[in-house]
Amino acid sequence: MNAQPTRHRSRFWPIKIRLLGTSAGGGFPQWNCSCRVCRAARNNPANAFARTQSGVAVSADGISWFLLNASPDLLAQIQAYPPLVANSETMRNSPIHGVLLTNGDLDHTLGLVLLREGGALAVYSTERVREALTVGLGILPTLERYCGLNWLDCRGEINLLRRDGTESGLHAQSFDIPGSAPKYVATKIRRAAGDSVGYVITDTRSGGVLVFAPDVSVLTPEHVEHLKRADVLLIDGTFWSENEMRESGTGTASAADMGHLPISGPENSLEVLAGLPVRRRIYMHINNTNPILLEDSPERRQVTSLGIEVGMDGMELKV
Ligand code: MLT
Ligand code: MN
Ligand code: ZN
Repeated sequence: MNAQPTRHRSRFWPIKIRLLGTSAGGGFPQWNCSCRVCRAARNNPANAFARTQSGVAVSADGISWFLLNASPDLLAQIQAYPPLVANSETMRNSPIHGVLLTNGDLDHTLGLVLLREGGALAVYSTERVREALTVGLGILPTLERYCGLNWLDCRGEINLLRRDGTESGLHAQSFDIPGSAPKYVATKIRRAAGDSVGYVITDTRSGGVLVFAPDVSVLTPEHVEHLKRADVLLIDGTFWSENEMRESGTGTASAADMGHLPISGPENSLEVLAGLPVRRRIYMHINNTNPILLEDSPERRQVTSLGIEVGMDGMELKV
């Protein structure tokens, strides 16, 4: 008999999640920024912990890992976490079996080229993101030449397989979130389905569910249905407010222009999160201008008083 994986909750085999990086593009403090929050981080790092660019590692068994996005800080993130480095059994190996991409943004994809010394890389994305990374950035053809590439469509039910074709114990399912083509793509069609997705990742043994959505421009009731499935939710915390860039003197683009729903304000994520029956609700992909990065800010208190957490590099979760 070909038994279906049972979805019982086990205390003994929980899905493992490591937040590799929790800042938005540019890192925190951002190398070229002297905004209030970056200055505070430099003056008193204990009150505003430094963060590398956004990415997560997930595993069902603690041995075989999948990356959720691949930031330009990936090498340092791997070196900082022994389960992600080579074991001593063979000369060349990696516990990283694939990368799932939410979009084609530079801060989520430049890390792919840092994996070129390894074996053929499994990369999951939408067709639209594949196109951006092929014609816009040339990253996928580059990988193809260096290490080989196994591109896989992230639509539908995905059984995440190890390099040797065996089951990793993780299932993934993507859901669409409106986004846009990355800036580096010269296309007339700036917005189309598949520009951005979130992932529901399920541990087939423990039944634990991680929902990963670092690029959220809107939260419709349909999106909320996906978020509700989570035991652990990692969600877009890029901006505190809609006009944060302008108000902090760092830029002119609004949160909406950049495809991020702010945490506060009339259209916001905080109220939605506050009402979600999810055990761990964690903001990540946090921009350097966002005052929730300051440990003692009123904005931070507003978030944490609702039981919602602010992601930090190195955070580990079990579901
Ligand atoms: C974004 O998601 O909008 C980026 O993190 C912004 C950036 O790369 O600076
Ligand atoms: Mn980003
Ligand atoms: Zn700054």
